[in-house]
Amino acid sequence: MVAGARGGCATAGAARRGFLALLLAVSAPLWLQAEKLGDGCGHIVTYKDSGTMTSKNYPGTYPNHTVCEKTITVPKGKRLILRLGDLDIESQTCASDYLLFTSSSDQYGPYCGSMTVPKELLLDTNEVTVRFESGSHISGRGFLLTYASSDHPDLITCLERANHYLKTEYSKFCPAGCRDIAGDISGNVVDGYRDTSLLCKAAIHAGIIADELGGQISVLLRKGLSRYEGILANGVLSRDGSLSDKRFLFTSNGCSTSLSLEPERQIRASSSWEWINETGDQVRWSPGQARLQDQGPSWASGDRSKNHKQREWLRIDLGERKKITGIRTTGSTQSNFNFYVKSFVMNFKDNDSKWKTYKGIGNNEEKVFQGNSNFRDPVRNNFIPPIVARYIRVIPHTWHQRIALKVELLGCQITPSNDSLVWPRTSSNTVGSTKREDETISQPIPSEEMTKGLNITTVVIPLVLLALLIAGVGTFAILRKRKKKGNPYGSAKTQKTDCWKQIKYPFARHQSAEFTISYDHEKEMTQKLDLITSDMAD
Ligand SMILES: *[C@@H]1O[C@H](CO)[C@@H](O)[C@H](O)[C@H]1NC(C)=O
Ligand SMILES: *[C@@H]1O[C@H](CO)[C@@H](O)[C@H](O)[C@H]1NC(C)=O
Ligand SMILES: *[C@@H]1O[C@H](CO)[C@@H](O)[C@H](O)[C@H]1NC(C)=O
Ligand SMILES: *[C@@H]1O[C@H](CO)[C@@H](O)[C@H](O)[C@H]1NC(C)=O
Repeated sequence: MVAGARGGCATAGAARRGFLALLLAVSAPLWLQAEKLGDGCGHIVTYKDSGTMTSKNYPGTYPNHTVCEKTITVPKGKRLILRLGDLDIESQTCASDYLLFTSSSDQYGPYCGSMTVPKELLLDTNEVTVRFESGSHISGRGFLLTYASSDHPDLITCLERANHYLKTEYSKFCPAGCRDIAGDISGNVVDGYRDTSLLCKAAIHAGIIADELGGQISVLLRKGLSRYEGILANGVLSRDGSLSDKRFLFTSNGCSTSLSLEPERQIRASSSWEWINETGDQVRWSPGQARLQDQGPSWASGDRSKNHKQREWLRIDLGERKKITGIRTTGSTQSNFNFYVKSFVMNFKDNDSKWKTYKGIGNNEEKVFQGNSNFRDPVRNNFIPPIVARYIRVIPHTWHQRIALKVELLGCQITPSNDSLVWPRTSSNTVGSTKREDETISQPIPSEEMTKGLNITTVVIPLVLLALLIAGVGTFAILRKRKKKGNPYGSAKTQKTDCWKQIKYPFARHQSAEFTISYDHEKEMTQKLDLITSDMAD
């Protein structure tokens, strides 16, 4: 814009000065607005009837001068439940830093500072507009909010850990979108998780719920273990953990036993790697070696995988239609052959039909599963909803050095009554800081096989923002007035005495439904515990 103006006025000095002055006068407010209208939203995942939303950089400090505004809806006829997992906004007056909820009938907030905030709101409507604004500040995590329809009164946030609850058996509803929220889990689905683990993230790791959907979890509290073994599963890394008093397990439908495979008859591949070793013998990495339970080298693809146009595959025939709920994979398992598959997609079909691709929930794109990160450790991925088919094909997308795979399929027999493949068809949006780790590939990969980015939509409502900006102080006067009218937290459900403030006391553990958040403390505590337990283990 400026360059163009300069060119046009190059000969008339006075006119140019005047024009530039005008330009500056016009563009200065525009520039200020651009900063002001910046996207203050962080991680946002929404699904039909639940979701998760945070401020930008959460749990890091939210940026100066940003706005995040988003309208959340659950299906018509339902009421909306909002649940704040964390609120840390540096302001005592809520003048320029605040969180505010506006529905067609009510207004909740603005909230900020050390104000007492209800941790749960049950609205009369199925829609609310969430608005977060930041001015100039030094610290503050901002907010983490989850929501669900009133069908899920047992909604929790992504931040609850099993040690927040004392019951030995309970059921909760996890919202969509907890996978990428910061916080540790340790353990695995078989042995259980350390009780300090985040419940919803552990449920995604365990394959009980899909991150895109959320869902009901049933938890059993049991005596702890001396060690917890971490693995990568469903894109979530659990860590090794030390002794704890308690651990938790999820109850599931039980359709996750290892499906037996006959190597010679049932496993085929597009190619396999053969070479002559120093003693003149032929070494084969055939598809028959692709069973995870077998010792020795895996299946590896032949050299044609260097031809980027062709997709390699490993095909398994289960002999009859089965319900397949998960897959475990490893790389070569041989330390002198550092080969593994970093991401893959799944195909499936029945007797004579065409191959179908397993698709992501809420979009029509093939789902890319996060595979192995080394040649040795098994990685699990679950299919939610399950695949029901006789044949499946694993199609490597990205790999390290050479495609090498061992697999195990998890699932069960099907009966007419429980044979159903449900494909939810509602849209889900993922916004902001959910970008996946960059896949760095040691060999060039065909461009059509690159992982597609997540579907990103940002909700900014510039007109409303502009109006609010102009209204300025006036708006706040009105907000204040409205807030004072009647009881803003109308329902009995939300009239709890336990409030948001208690988040400030990380060691006040035993109010069963309270959250305790303290990132620094938690780390310290874990480290101390680790020290103690490693001594104890010896
Ligand atoms: C906001 O701006 C102030 C003053 O420029 C600065 O001191 C502060 O660090 C900034 N805060 C953040 C979160 O960037
Ligand atoms: C070559 O392969 C044969 C058969 O697999 C094996 O017995 C032999 O030990 C291998 N030689 C070397 C040097 O690895
Ligand atoms: C597929 O073929 C097998 C025999 O090859 C047969 O037993 C089975 O019923 C067929 N399944 C379907 C779904 O057609
Ligand atoms: C389906 O039914 C079969 C036979 O009753 C059973 O073995 C399997 O576990 C069931 N699967 C599920 C998911 O309920």
